[in-house]
Amino acid sequence: MKPYVIVLGNEKGGTGKSTVAMHVAVYLLINGFKVGTIDVDARQGTFTRYFEHRKNAGGNIPLSEHIAISNNNDSDKTKAQSIDAESFDKAMKQLTFHDFIVIDTPGNDTPLARIAHSYADTLITPLNDSFVDLDVLVKVSHNDMKILSPSIYAEMVWNQRKERAKRGEKPIDWVVIRNRLTTLYTKNKRDINVVLEVLSKRIGFRLGTGFCERVIFKELFLSGLTLLDLEKSGVQLNISHISARQELRELINFMKLPKL
Ligand SMILES: Nc1ncnc2c1ncn2[C@@H]1O[C@H](COP(=O)(O)OP(=O)(O)O)[C@@H](O)[C@H]1O
Ligand SMILES: [Mg+2]
Repeated sequence: MKPYVIVLGNEKGGTGKSTVAMHVAVYLLINGFKVGTIDVDARQGTFTRYFEHRKNAGGNIPLSEHIAISNNNDSDKTKAQSIDAESFDKAMKQLTFHDFIVIDTPGNDTPLARIAHSYADTLITPLNDSFVDLDVLVKVSHNDMKILSPSIYAEMVWNQRKERAKRGEKPIDWVVIRNRLTTLYTKNKRDINVVLEVLSKRIGFRLGTGFCERVIFKELFLSGLTLLDLEKSGVQLNISHISARQELRELINFMKLPKL
């Protein structure tokens, strides 16, 4: 059996890709799966550093086999791209005996990010709660909220779907989630939801459940821990932690992963 590949992607920084990647990877580890993780955003390196902090946390916390890949900077673009493709292929081969591979990608378009997208069995795109973020998927007209055209990112996903089809692989299951939601009811929030519902049919993604804005996500990074490790670190669980865990469980269920 080949590993099942989950990619976090969105051509915008700060939407929660690395945070969600970490939580999904640790959820799978805690449930007894062999998990490989790849950071193709080695320049920023958030996913890689999160795992470094986790290694240093000690104790009996499960770890993935982690690989960070840097973009090749050769001035010959074609050469650089083929070296990137080789590095990615090597990493995938190294992780071939794992149940799952979770890949974090940068908030901009790079050859490595494209390759990673083409290997996604599931692609998760977190969006923050604003039209700035929605712009990553689609251009919307200001006056009547009409959907004008898919964005460059949506087109890139479309192209990577074609790459998969050429390799005879099944289509990417694209899951869009909203992250850092406030509990306030606003017109903006409702408008975004309306557009996303229409868009999900138009460009082919499933609109999953997301995560509320919770300060715990910011606090966890330096300790290398996730919401799922809190008891081990002696943190007293509060209602916000429990709700956040529930949100993670809902996302996992929504993804309908094999073997789960
Ligand atoms: N649900 C959330 N609530 C509060 N802060 C969050 C949440 N999700 C992510 N963050 C914070 O937002 C920032 C960006 O998240 P990150 O995962 O690094 O995004 P990306 O990888 O897309 O650039 C980080 O400081 C992270 O701790
Ligand atoms: Mg990141």
